[in-house]
Amino acid sequence: MDTVLFLTVGLVFFITPVRSNTSGLKKVSKVQLLGFDWKNCGAPDAPAVLKTLNVSPDPVSIPGDLQASASGSTSVELTAPLAVNVTLEKEVAGFWVRVPCVEELGSCHYKDACELLNQLVPPGQDCPEPLHTYGLPCRCPFKAGSYSLPQSDFYLPVMEVPSWLTNGNYRVQGVLGMQDKELGCLRVSLSLRSN
Ligand SMILES: *[C@@H]1O[C@H](CO)[C@@H](O)[C@H](O)[C@H]1NC(C)=O
Ligand SMILES: *[C@@H]1O[C@H](CO)[C@@H](O)[C@H](O)[C@H]1NC(C)=O
Repeated sequence: MDTVLFLTVGLVFFITPVRSNTSGLKKVSKVQLLGFDWKNCGAPDAPAVLKTLNVSPDPVSIPGDLQASASGSTSVELTAPLAVNVTLEKEVAGFWVRVPCVEELGSCHYKDACELLNQLVPPGQDCPEPLHTYGLPCRCPFKAGSYSLPQSDFYLPVMEVPSWLTNGNYRVQGVLGMQDKELGCLRVSLSLRSN
């Protein structure tokens, strides 16, 4: 799985359930993600790029099953500290409005994504499926090379989302950097519908 993708989408949506004590979270019984789209937004010669990313079905239901495949590459080894700057925007009355960083979610600067990955999957522990099956890494360092995740099934459990994450159109940009050099940039857009 491409690191930029993993970090961008992961930081916004998947860190939430593992954080132990946060206020302002609400349990939603059902969320739908629609119109998922993505593109690279780095320089044409950016070292880290996502090559393919397919997510189905549309909409994706949470809780529910989704299928995804992805491939990407990095021409440099990704090692700590790996900075990630996330910009999250929501469409409000036709304008894109930046969602601020609140409790490490939203438009946040993460000094070291390697550290966050270590919290998600502590060193010594096997990477979660399907990464383990395909021998894909889930912690730093990520060696230079190509990574590919064949079509795989994921189950998304009920999760808690910040109370500001309401119905609407969102776009997220993640910029990955190491030692003040930009390595890659990924932009993801989707719509969220919940009850
Ligand atoms: C969570 O943190 C708040 C303060 O931010 C504190 O009042 C509360 O007791 C904490 N809850 C747990 C379960 O640790
Ligand atoms: C993140 O933003 C900070 C502050 O604007 C900047 O100094 C840093 O270079 C940025 N890092 C990346 C990876 O874009």
